[in-house]
Amino acid sequence: MLDDRVRAVLARLEEEDAREREEGVAREQRARQVARTTGQFLFSLVAPQTDCEVLEIGGSRGYSTIWLAAGVRYLGGRVLSLEHDPAKVDAWQRNIADAGLDQWAELVPGDAFETLPAIDDVFDVVFLDAEKEQYEELFQLARGKLEPAALIVADNVLSHADPLAGYSRARQADRTLESVTVPLDRGLELSVVLRDSA
Ligand SMILES: C[S@@+](CC[C@H](N)C(=O)[O-])C[C@H]1O[C@@H](n2cnc3c(N)ncnc32)[C@H](O)[C@@H]1O
Repeated sequence: MLDDRVRAVLARLEEEDAREREEGVAREQRARQVARTTGQFLFSLVAPQTDCEVLEIGGSRGYSTIWLAAGVRYLGGRVLSLEHDPAKVDAWQRNIADAGLDQWAELVPGDAFETLPAIDDVFDVVFLDAEKEQYEELFQLARGKLEPAALIVADNVLSHADPLAGYSRARQADRTLESVTVPLDRGLELSVVLRDSA
C-alpha cells in the first residue's frame, strides 16, 4: 500500500540520493538506489501477486525494498533483503520502520555469498541489484531457490553493459528461462523460469 508514511520515506530517500550525488559523496557511501520509475515498476510486478515471496540481493538503505514491500502488502507475502554494509543495514532498518513496513520486509545482514546458501526458502520474485561483476554467481546461487513461473529482475544491464551484456546473453540463451531486456532507466533483465534447471 502506498500510504503517506511510505510516500514520505520514499521522498526523503530521493532527496538524500540527489543531494549526495550533487555533493560528490563517494560511490560506496551513497545509496546507489534504483530510479523512481524502476521502483514503480517493481511495485507493479509484485502488487498483483498473492503471497509473493521476494528475495532482494543488495538492499542498501531500503529504497527498492520499500517499493517491493509496499507492493506485497496488498495480497500477502514478504521481502527478504540481503545487505552487507553495516551503515546501510542500520539505515535500512530505520527506513523500513519509518515506512511502517517491518511486517513485510526483513533484512539478512552479511555477505550474500554466505547468507544466501543458508536460506532455505523458495521465492516468486528475485531482485538482483548488487555488484555487477558478481551478478552471474549470485544468479546461480538464487537459481536453485526458484520454481517454474518465478521471475528474476536484474538491474543495470544497459547502464553497465560491460560487464552485464554477458549476463543478459546467458539468460536469453538458457532454454529453462524466457528472458527479455526491458529498456527502463538503467535497463532491467527480466527472466521467467520455465522449468527447473538440470
Ligand atoms: C546498487 S546498491 C542497491 C540499491 C538498492 N537496491 C536500492 O535500490 O535501494 C547495491 C548494494 O548491494 C550491497 N552488496 C554488494 N555486494 C553484496 C554482497 N556480496 N552481499 C550483500 N550485499 C552486497 C552493497 O553494499 C550496496 O548497498
